[in-house]
Amino acid sequence: MTIVYDAREQDGAAKRVKPVKAKKPTVKTPDFEVPEYTPGLAKEMAPLYARVSKVIPSVEWPFFAPYIYEINRLKKQKNAVILAHNYMTPEIFHGVADIAGDSLQLAIEATKVEEQVIVQCGVHFMAETSKLLNPGKTVIIPDEMAGCSLASSITGADVRAMREAYPGVPVVTYVNTSAEVKAETDICCTSSNALKVVESMNAPRVMCIPDEYLARNIQKQTDVEIITYKGSCEVHERFTPEELREYRENDPGIKIIAHPECPPDVLDEADFSGSTSAMINWVKDNQPSKVMMVTECSMSDNVAVENPNVDFIRPCNLCPHMKRITLPKILASLHTMQDEVTIDPAIAERARLPIERMIALNN
Ligand code: 13P
Ligand code: SF4
Repeated sequence: MTIVYDAREQDGAAKRVKPVKAKKPTVKTPDFEVPEYTPGLAKEMAPLYARVSKVIPSVEWPFFAPYIYEINRLKKQKNAVILAHNYMTPEIFHGVADIAGDSLQLAIEATKVEEQVIVQCGVHFMAETSKLLNPGKTVIIPDEMAGCSLASSITGADVRAMREAYPGVPVVTYVNTSAEVKAETDICCTSSNALKVVESMNAPRVMCIPDEYLARNIQKQTDVEIITYKGSCEVHERFTPEELREYRENDPGIKIIAHPECPPDVLDEADFSGSTSAMINWVKDNQPSKVMMVTECSMSDNVAVENPNVDFIRPCNLCPHMKRITLPKILASLHTMQDEVTIDPAIAERARLPIERMIALNN
């Protein structure tokens, strides 16, 4: 039985302050010059367009191509590397990313980069992870307001309160959390290694926070008693088992693969569940004639490029935070080196350890 800790039900909960970032005044991203979409540029970019033409309409390409060209030129000049999450839109994922992957892969790759500047195309906790692992480098995120409903659901004080409520129980924290929360944690996990990390604690009870659904999905695979927290992903919690059943009834041959941030009854309807990269690999390896990826919308577009024989059925939900990252903002961030990610050194020192422990476990 999974225990769910609901911070809103605790004493003084009404007075608690959530780590909602102060709203930046809305400033229009300055427009930096991009080359004209001339026949010469079109010719140079034609091989890339041939790859992505299935998912980027031809009317949009003359807008994207000059940005892609300019970003790729500028990142070399600035000694920058672009790390992109699998949820980035195809023009970012296929056009400018040097390394793309799930949260675990991006964290591991962040330890290996040689460039002085890391441009994190993803959400804020991912950029914080890169900064924690590269304190001497400049880490920028093209829009620091790119948050995450899981990361904003929990504070360091919540973790301390849980430790008091469950003394001696190890704390496994999902990487989708702030550095302040990681600083209170024993070890981190991602969706691709959560079961392994929980079991590595060698304890009868483990806290696995803050995603209630990820924790419940792990609980089904282990005898360790899991205590979790009432947090959820606003994108994955919206899928329902009914809609998946309806798709299967209408199309019995369809394969359904889902992310473990979905509720357990949604995963019960799926043929496979795994991290974003595990889902991508499943499609590559299995080449189903028709597949539905129960996750964020851009995944199907990105995977479709490399799997021309697979038909993607696309009921998906958009992550509004991931979608804050756009080509014009990436270009602006390379010019201005903004928004730079900084972390209080005292917090960083403590927050780095649980990530390093997780990475060590995966080696
Ligand atoms: P992955 O680690 O599977 O890429 O998940 C990160 C995420 O934010 C999914 O919503
Ligand atoms: Fe956070 Fe969900 Fe968006 Fe992933 S998809 S970044 S978990 S809100």
